[in-house]
Amino acid sequence: ESQFVPKHLLGKRVLITAGPTVERIDPVRFLSNDSSGKMGVALAAAARDMGAHVTLVHGPLQVPVPDGVTAIAVESGTDMLETVLARFDDQDLVIKSAAVADYRPKTVHSEKHKKVHGPLTIELEETTDILKTLGEKKTHQLLVGFAAETENLEQHARDKIARKRVDYLVANDVSQPDIGFRADDNEVTLFRADGAHVRLPRQSKRELAVELLTHFKEDLR
Ligand code: PMT
Repeated sequence: ESQFVPKHLLGKRVLITAGPTVERIDPVRFLSNDSSGKMGVALAAAARDMGAHVTLVHGPLQVPVPDGVTAIAVESGTDMLETVLARFDDQDLVIKSAAVADYRPKTVHSEKHKKVHGPLTIELEETTDILKTLGEKKTHQLLVGFAAETENLEQHARDKIARKRVDYLVANDVSQPDIGFRADDNEVTLFRADGAHVRLPRQSKRELAVELLTHFKEDLR
């Protein structure tokens, strides 16, 4: 899908994360989530169409990587953190639409777990919060987080803006079936660090991506 969009991001460097992360349990099993990557891929394609140099750091995607962007495939949250940090200084805008796993198995088994051993307990530990790490390091970059919520969207979104020191937070209600994870459409509330917010009604992820980027470009330094 390519439609005419004004080149509002001409020459800007934009890094977008998309899709789920994958945390290994053993060589054949993993923990992951329902993210298809559609939202992040739509943002990457829209930013490209608006003239940006786009880097897309992504977990396993259910949609193709768009042409004309630099795509880097990663698996775990640690891979994503290292990949993003290594490129952070060069960016004008960073958008974290990936659904990063909050927990990973404490031990990764090098052999496949056999059922003969009986019930299996997997101990989980917290992963590093990539967005929060970037919030602490940012200098000139405009930093945008997403928030997947199932309740108290506004309160949680405002907490995340403050805690993770982001410039914008895009909150979607993932309890609704036709938007959010895996869907072709999304409907979000965009919160700005200064407290302003705007509701962006249900539309295709492509249209929403153009609208979001049009907001962000106003604050690019
Ligand atoms: O991929 P799709 O199927 O198109 O679905 C899109 C989406 C629902 C995944 C997307 O719109 C979305 O909401 N992405 C963020 C999902 C998420 O992880 O939300 P969260 O509220 O758990 O995390 C908040 C923010 O912190 C996110 O920007 C996330 O990338 C970031 N985070 C979270 C945990 C962690 N360890 N590191 C992070 O950087």
